[in-house]
This record gives sequence, structure tokens and C-alpha cells, in this order.
Amino acid sequence: MNQTCWKSPSNIAIIKYWGKYGRQLPKNASLSFTLSAAYSQTTLRYSPKAKGGIQLRFLFEGQEKPAFAQRIQGFLESILEELPFLDEYALELDSKNSFPHSAGIASSASSMSALALCLCDMAAELGLGPTSDQAEFWQKASYFARLGSGSACRSLYPMAASWGESKQLKGSSNLWASPCGELLHDDFKAVQDTILLVSRAEKSVSSTAGHKLMEGNPFAPLRYQLAEENLGKLLPALQAGDWATFGQIAEEEALMLHALMMTSRPSYLLMQPNSLALIEKVRDWRQQTKLPLYFTLDAGPNLHLLYPKSMQPKVQPFLQEELLPLCENGGHLADELGCGPEKLRLL
Ligand code: DP6
Repeated sequence: MNQTCWKSPSNIAIIKYWGKYGRQLPKNASLSFTLSAAYSQTTLRYSPKAKGGIQLRFLFEGQEKPAFAQRIQGFLESILEELPFLDEYALELDSKNSFPHSAGIASSASSMSALALCLCDMAAELGLGPTSDQAEFWQKASYFARLGSGSACRSLYPMAASWGESKQLKGSSNLWASPCGELLHDDFKAVQDTILLVSRAEKSVSSTAGHKLMEGNPFAPLRYQLAEENLGKLLPALQAGDWATFGQIAEEEALMLHALMMTSRPSYLLMQPNSLALIEKVRDWRQQTKLPLYFTLDAGPNLHLLYPKSMQPKVQPFLQEELLPLCENGGHLADELGCGPEKLRLL
């Protein structure tokens, strides 16, 4: 039996991907920071079998999880034409997350990117694809991660990545993400992301269903135009270390995503009262201190606080005294930008 094991991080989008078409293609270009502490670790074991369909055993933290297994089985079947060797092996996947499953953190980005890396590494081991020292390997892994979950394709690269065609991003593609950590000003390479866990409850609407709602949303065409405009403002801000522009765009993108969900049919309110209370606290504190503390949100109630590392001593007391009391059991996770996925050597 052969095996490969990869650790892959989650990411937080500043320009949001919300709306897709065709085979998992984005309606607008998005850009995210690659995280560090929030990651998935996936081991793939494979042994030869006779051809004839995907044979998968899936374990999550050592336990059978039929709902996850079904999603992954479907994903593997959907890429069988592109990776035809997959049905010549009995596959066993064992995955775990560094963060609690119920923490309300999207795990599809880290888990699908880790899985895509295992599959591409398996292809490499079998002599059927590029190896991880080649740029093509990463592009291929990003391609398959995207098919698993759109945002997952951006987790492949250190510091920051973009996904989706844009005239403003050279070489960008709808098919895979591109690295853009290089363009970050040093201040942004040390961004802190403190995730405030307002609620650990399961999401009331899956992101796949949320993307779908964009199809009938009357604001959708304007949204795609604004995403492109915001990207145009964000890129120079990231290069220049311009926190004010960065923060204004991060917050606008997050609130626009939520406004789109509120104006969908049916409509969804994904924030909780405490999400709003936290937003007001962050804005008041910023007003008073004139310090660059900003937030973003994914399609859920939890806030990601974004700020420079040098501000940590000033943010800590505010966090402890004012913000954590509004989180579910004081729940929060400290994260920052990271160097992307890593292959782990199993003993
Ligand atoms: C709000 O990547 O989870 O986090 O492609 O259907 O798996 P699927 O959706 P997913 O959507 C993520 C949406 C978002 C914004 C973002 O990460 O860009």
C-alpha cells in the first residue's frame, strides 16, 4: 500500500467569490490571504484493485462520516475522466482539521485543497503527472481543488492568491488560482487574522446554495462590476501597505456579500445580533484610536479581525474586554498569513 499526506490551510477572501457558472467557474475574480493555523491534514492510502468504479473509504478524525464520504465520492467520480487511474486503486482517505469541526470555519477550502494535493501527488508517484517541484503540479492541484470547492483553489499558494480572469491580474484564469503573495507589502505579509466565533452552529444555507441564489439576484450584474473595481483598488493598496484603502474594501466586500444574501429570493440573514454588535465595536474603536483594525466575514456570523502584527499589544486588551464577551463561550482563533501547503513525511 502506498500513501501520501498533505497539510493545507484555509484562506480568507478579501475580494469575495460569490456567484458561479458552468463547471465551478467564478463570476468574478477573487483574492484571498492564505492562513496558517487553520488547516486540514489528509492522508491518502492506495492499493491496486481491478478497474470498475471508485472505491473509497473515508474517515474524518478516525471516524466514518457518511455525509462527507458521499461528497468526496461524488467529487472523485466527477474527475474520473481526468484522473482515470483513480478507479484502479482502492482509496482510503483520513482527514482531520486543526480547528474544531463545529467552529463555524469553512473547512472546504483546506480539506479540498489537501485532497487535491494528495491526488496530484498520487499521479506523480505513479509517473502520470508532474511532481511537486514543478509549477505545473500546483496549477493542477489548484484546478482539482477548485472542482471540489471554488475557494479551495486559492489555498495552494503562500501568503495570498487570486482566482478568476481579470485584466488587472496578469496570467489569471477561471480554471485555477494564481499566487500573488509576492506583491504584498511587508506589512501585509504579517497580517493578523483573529477569528471571532459568534456562533458555532451549522450554516443555515450552504455556500453552493448561496452561489446559486445569485442567478436570480437583481443586483448580481452590479456586484460583479464592483468586485472588479474593488480588485483594482485593492491591488495597489496591498503593494503600498495602504491599510485604510485595504480595510475599506475588506469591509465593503464582506457587507456586500451579506447584502446580496439578504436580497436573494428567498432571503437569508447570515449575521447574528452579536456580529453587528462586534462590527460597531470595531468601528468605534477604530474611530477613537485611529488604528487600522478592520473586519471581514464569510457567509456566516463570525468576524475575521484583520490588523498589522505590530498592533497586537493594543488589540489584545480590547479583544479580551470588549469583543470576546460577544463570542460564543468567548470562542476565537488566532491566525495569520502562512506559507501554504506542506507535504508531510509519514513514519
Ligand atoms: C463567502 O468555495 O465554499 O467564502 O464553490 O460552492 O464550494 P463552493 O463555494 P465556496 O464559497 C466560498 C464563498 C466565500 C467567499 C470566498 O471565499 O471567496
